[in-house]
Amino acid sequence: MARILITSGPTREPLDPVRFLTNASTGRMGAALAAAALERGHAVDFVTGPAAVFPPKGVHKVAVTTALEMLGACEKLYPLCDAVIGAAAVSDFRPRSPLAHKKPQGGGAWAIELIPNPDILEALGRLKRHQVHAGFALETLGLSEAIQRARDKLSRKNLDWIVLNSAQAIGAEEGIFLLIPRQGPEISLGKISKEKLAGTLLDRIFPKKP
Ligand code: CTP
Repeated sequence: MARILITSGPTREPLDPVRFLTNASTGRMGAALAAAALERGHAVDFVTGPAAVFPPKGVHKVAVTTALEMLGACEKLYPLCDAVIGAAAVSDFRPRSPLAHKKPQGGGAWAIELIPNPDILEALGRLKRHQVHAGFALETLGLSEAIQRARDKLSRKNLDWIVLNSAQAIGAEEGIFLLIPRQGPEISLGKISKEKLAGTLLDRIFPKKP
C-alpha cells in the first residue's frame, strides 16, 4: 500500500505574540482525505495547521503553525511518500516583521507589511520523482475562467490532479467540485460531501485493481 502525505487546515502567521493572520479553513477536507486513505489501507503523514476538525486516529500527525513550518515538515516527509495531497489553506502572505512584544493600544493606525510565503505544493512539485500529486483550486470567478486558472495552477505546481472548488466549500460539509486531470477532460462531481470527494479522489490517484 502507499504512503500519502496530506497537508491540512489553515496556517497562522504571527503579527505579534498574541495576534495572527489566518483564514476560515477547518481542516475538514484534510481529515476526510486521511480517513479515505486509511480505509483503503494506505499510511498517512498528516501535516496540519491549527484546525478545528481532528484527523482520524491512525495517521502520523505533524502539527505546525506557520506556512514555513509546514513547508519544512513536508520537505522532510516527502522523499518516503508515494503521493501528496495539498488540502491545506496555506496563508499566501506573512507579516514581514512580527513584533517581539504585544502591540499596545494607541498610537494610531498600525500598518503591516506582508511578504509572500512559499507555495508548498509548488516546492514539492520540483522534487517530484515517482509520486502522484493532487491539489485544490479555490476560485471565486465564473466557471470557464475558474477552470483556466485551475489548469494554470495544475501545471505551475506540477500536479496530476486538481480539484476545483468555490469559496462556499470553506468550512462547509459539502461543495460543488470539478476534478481536473493533467490530461483529458474535467470530471464534474456535482454537489457532494467532502467525504465522498475524498473517496473519489483517492480512487483516481490509486485506482482499485479489478
Ligand atoms: N497551496 C500551497 N502553498 C501555498 C498556497 C497554496 O501548497 N502557499 C496549495 C493548497 O493546499 C491548494 C493549492 O495550493 O492545494 C491551491 O491553493 P489556492 O488557494 O487555490 O491557490 P493559490 O495557489 O494560493 O493561488 P491564488 O491565491 O492566486 O488563487
